[in-house]
Amino acid sequence: MPEAAHVGSGKVRELYALDDERLLLVASDRISTFDVVLPTEIPDKGRVLTGLSAFWFARTSSIVPNHLLGLQADGRSSECRRLEMLPLECVVRGYITGSGWKDYQATGATSGHTLPAGLRESDRLPEPIFTPSTKADEGHDENIDLDQAGELVGSDRLQEVERIALELYRFASEHALARGIIIADTKFEFGVDGESQLVLADEAFTPDSSRFWPAADYEPGRAQPSFDKQFVGILDPQGEAVLGSLKQLGFAVGDARVGRVVDLELQNGDREQARADLERMCEQLLANPLIESYEIELVEEE
Ligand SMILES: Nc1ncnc2c1ncn2[C@@H]1O[C@H](COP(=O)(O)OP(=O)(O)O)[C@@H](O)[C@H]1O
Ligand SMILES: [Mg+2]
Repeated sequence: MPEAAHVGSGKVRELYALDDERLLLVASDRISTFDVVLPTEIPDKGRVLTGLSAFWFARTSSIVPNHLLGLQADGRSSECRRLEMLPLECVVRGYITGSGWKDYQATGATSGHTLPAGLRESDRLPEPIFTPSTKADEGHDENIDLDQAGELVGSDRLQEVERIALELYRFASEHALARGIIIADTKFEFGVDGESQLVLADEAFTPDSSRFWPAADYEPGRAQPSFDKQFVGILDPQGEAVLGSLKQLGFAVGDARVGRVVDLELQNGDREQARADLERMCEQLLANPLIESYEIELVEEE
C-alpha cells in the first residue's frame, strides 16, 4: 500500500488520502448513536458495514455510479474516489416511524410531504418519500424541506438526487423484502466528481444508515423489532448514548434508566419552560433513530 496521509476521522470511519483522487476509508468497530460514539466496540462491525456497502454498490451501479474502487484484504478498508460531498443527508422513508411518525401525528405531514389520514405507527407509505436533512459538521442533523435542501445544492441537483435516492430505495427494498427484511428507511450521501457527475459515496444500506425490520414480525400499530441500532439499548445499559447526547445538546439530566424504555427526570422551576425543553430534547433524539417515540409527564413538587 502506498503511503497514505490521515485526512480525517468520522464517528465510525478513518479517512486517508492515497493521492489527490483516491481515499482509503477504514470502517472501525465503533458504534455511534445520535452523534455520540459509545464506549463499547462491536467486533467486526466495520467489516460488516464495508461488506454490505460493497454488496449494494455492485448491485446498484446501473442506477448511479458509486465511489468504490476496491476492497482491501482486511475487509474493512475500501479505496474510493475522492469526491466533493453534497452537504445533505439524503433520507428515503418507505414506512412511517421515528421522527416521521412524530411529525405525522402532530401535523399530518413530514418534511413537507402531506400523508394520507389514518396511518398507524410503522405503516407502509403509499409511496416512498424523500426527506433530506442537513449534514452538520458540528452538532446535529436537522430535517429540512425540499426548498431548504434546494438552497444547499441547487434545485436541479436536488431533483436528480431525489430521483436517484428513490430509485435506489425501491430497488434495495424489493430485493430485501423478497428475503424477509423490510428496509423501513435509509440514508445516502452523494458526492460530485471533477466532471460534475453525481456519485453515490459513503456507505449504502448498512445498519448504520438504515432501519431493518424482520418482515415476519411486522405488525403496524406499534414500533417494530429491528436489526439496527435498537440493540444499543442492550449494549449500553447505562444509557451513555442518551445521556451523552443530552449533555451535548445542553440538557442537564440527573438520572436515567435505560432498556427498551428510557426513563429520565429533569427538574425545572417553570412548568411551561420544562415542557418546551423536554419536547425540544425528544424531537432532537427522534431526528436520529435513537428513540422511536416519547411521552412527557409533568409533576408538581411541593
Ligand atoms: N468518496 C468520498 N469522498 C469524500 N468524502 C467521503 C467519501 N465517502 C464518504 N466521505 C465522508 O467520509 C466520512 C465517513 O466517515 P463516517 O465515520 O461515516 O462519518 P460521520 O461521522 O459523518 O458519519 C463522512 O464525513 C463522509 O461524508
Ligand atoms: Mg457516516
